[in-house]
Amino acid sequence: MGGAGGASRTAILVCQGRAVAHGRLAPGRFDDPTALALLRPAERVAVEQVRADAVPVGARPRMAFEMVRACGDAMAPRTVTIDDAVREVVARHGAAGTQVVILGAGLDGRAWQLRELAGIPVFEVDHPATQREKRERAGGLAEPVSAPVYVPVDFSRDDLGDALAAAGHRESAPTVWIWEGVVPYLTRGQTLGTLQVIAARSAPGSRLIIQYHSPTPGFALGRGAAAVLSRLTGSENPMAREPNRSAWTPRAMGRAVAAGGFTVTRDDTLLVLARRFDTPARHRQSLRGTRILVADRPAGGPSPG
Ligand SMILES: C[S@@+](CC[C@H](N)C(=O)[O-])C[C@H]1O[C@@H](n2cnc3c(N)ncnc32)[C@H](O)[C@@H]1O
Repeated sequence: MGGAGGASRTAILVCQGRAVAHGRLAPGRFDDPTALALLRPAERVAVEQVRADAVPVGARPRMAFEMVRACGDAMAPRTVTIDDAVREVVARHGAAGTQVVILGAGLDGRAWQLRELAGIPVFEVDHPATQREKRERAGGLAEPVSAPVYVPVDFSRDDLGDALAAAGHRESAPTVWIWEGVVPYLTRGQTLGTLQVIAARSAPGSRLIIQYHSPTPGFALGRGAAAVLSRLTGSENPMAREPNRSAWTPRAMGRAVAAGGFTVTRDDTLLVLARRFDTPARHRQSLRGTRILVADRPAGGPSPG
């Protein structure tokens, strides 16, 4: 998180991306009516410009436009893939036998709009500052499908296992862990430490979904270019206070989840997923450097401990 300890700005950027994609990208597959409602009026300006394809005049608004549009392109395949992976587990175990933990939830709207979560406990874990802001913003949303249990945790400092246990998360029931857009902001040590807690609290039949970055040169270059452009245009770079702290090769990430007793079921780049869902792939390097891994703990396997 940002050095100043404030709420996450990248959480707002990805929410803007979902608001841009809503009803426009991957029609029939992607839908997030909560995204626009979770944004403040000033944050909606670039969203509305992208949705109207109205390229603004001036370097700063243009920069915001390009960032939000690129984010929209990434969010549609990313969200559809993760939602499908959640649905598969609910179909397998039924709502009564499943719980969902969203790690680094940001402005995630699933608890309000993913119908399959009805009757399923949803735990939203996030940095306390981001979560405070999420709770304020979510006050304006309609009734949730499953009212989230908020669990404030700073992954760099707090004990995730204790916090989840205190919040009512059960080690004995399968958990779907959604860890979307967070690993890049954590060090390798913080990521491995969190994986240990996940492993210790995952009953057989649990599923772990991780969106992470792989160390491709084009991806790093794109991020660097965004930082330079932000400086040149005097725009706020949402990534400035949340630098990338870790990138993982698929092999290294596969080993890390295997150490926790999970078997990788699939691990695709966003570029592959964008092609699958026929969504725009304007920023191929960035999409190629972003991956979504789905890993399962076999239903007949050992219990955590
Ligand atoms: C890019 S946002 C992703 C939000 C959400 N998962 C989504 O995809 O919409 C990054 C999230 O990671 C969280 N995060 C980053 N570092 C964290 C830390 N040390 N402890 C807890 N949360 C952290 C931020 O608060 C933020 O919600």
